[in-house]
Amino acid sequence: MKKNILITGGAGFIGSHVVRLFVKKYSDYQIVNLDALTYAGNLENLKEIENAPNYVFEKGDITDEKFVPALFAKYNFDGVIHLAAESHVDRSITDPMAFIKTNVFGTVNLLNAAKDAWKGNFEGKRFYHISTDEVYGALENDGTFFVETTKYAPHSPYSASKASSDHFVRAYHDTYGLPVVVSNCSNNYGANHFPEKLIPLAINNIKHKKPIPIYGKGENVRDWLWVNDHARAIDIIFHNGKDGQTYNIGGNNEWTNIDLIRMLCKIMDKKLGREQGESAKLITFVTDRAGHDLRYAIDSSKLQRELGWKPSLQFEEGLEKTVDWYLENEQWLDNVINGAYQQYYQQQYANR
Ligand code: NAD
Ligand code: TYD
Repeated sequence: MKKNILITGGAGFIGSHVVRLFVKKYSDYQIVNLDALTYAGNLENLKEIENAPNYVFEKGDITDEKFVPALFAKYNFDGVIHLAAESHVDRSITDPMAFIKTNVFGTVNLLNAAKDAWKGNFEGKRFYHISTDEVYGALENDGTFFVETTKYAPHSPYSASKASSDHFVRAYHDTYGLPVVVSNCSNNYGANHFPEKLIPLAINNIKHKKPIPIYGKGENVRDWLWVNDHARAIDIIFHNGKDGQTYNIGGNNEWTNIDLIRMLCKIMDKKLGREQGESAKLITFVTDRAGHDLRYAIDSSKLQRELGWKPSLQFEEGLEKTVDWYLENEQWLDNVINGAYQQYYQQQYANR
């Protein structure tokens, strides 16, 4: 029998990779992409599969208490993969409320809709919540890693809102028996990444010879994972993860921001035919982010051991592929920078 799967946030960065993977791989699933098309949602990301017979787009807000239950009634979902969120730390510092609304209230609204639609009959059902390593707080430069049992200690309004949503998801498992699974992933990079985040912002600025802003001294450390490897992990966890469990996903790939940007500059110099060292001159140290977490590092051995996943790409290769994608998809980047993507799709879905 055909399965109906709801993917929320499918027009965003990671969500679009997950939607593409599922639509292409599972012709026996109907994939419903629910997305509000905020500034971060871009249906251009899904051009490749937009006309696929097993794909439907529904414009809507996960916080809408009428629309979301109606969607569950319309499609009788077997599974939910929940990615919709406000995702940018800097925006959470200036507008925390938007993060509480979407990330906390929106998640609980989806949990309620699933609980009410499934009415205690959870056979073959699954609610998969996608979260971040940022809920664990910050590590020192001491070789330790976040594991699934690390105590939550979020520092930014973004990570606090994701931590809260994770707690609600687990509470619905413990209280109502909802079949949930959670994963917490490190920083993603790759195609379709919105250029407010470090790597695509730097690619765009290098291309246009604009300053590359580095917060503080650039000594903060992030663990970077190729977005396609995250999407693969999501596929594996959705199908083979155990109810009530959490899986950490990471690249085992730690870089200080400054070393990462120096490597990116070298790759860009090569690709753009510039003299080596030219792009690095654009590096500009700026005021640090408030509450800037020093280091994130994920131990993903549980996922590797129990479900057989592992990252597929070395970082340098992944970064080159990413640069190639941005250079080959100038129109995508230009449309995002000048806002054309929003005008086009907002008009198309104006009454939805
Ligand atoms: P993104 O900001 O690129 O995309 C978010 C998507 O959600 C957009 O399409 C947006 O339109 C949609 N959305 C926002 N608010 C909505 C609402 N109220 N109703 C319906 N749709 C809404 O985010 P991303 O980077 O792709 O992250 C996806 C998920 O993965 C998030 O839950 C994030 O916390 C998590 N995550 C991200 C990273 C990362 O490095 N980007 C790492 C780990 C976990
Ligand atoms: P970001 O891509 O915003 O992801 P997150 O904050 O979720 O880790 O930032 C990655 C790192 O890069 C983080 O340490 C902050 C830093 N950063 C800069 O130095 N300059 C920038 O312009 C941005 C956006 C981020």
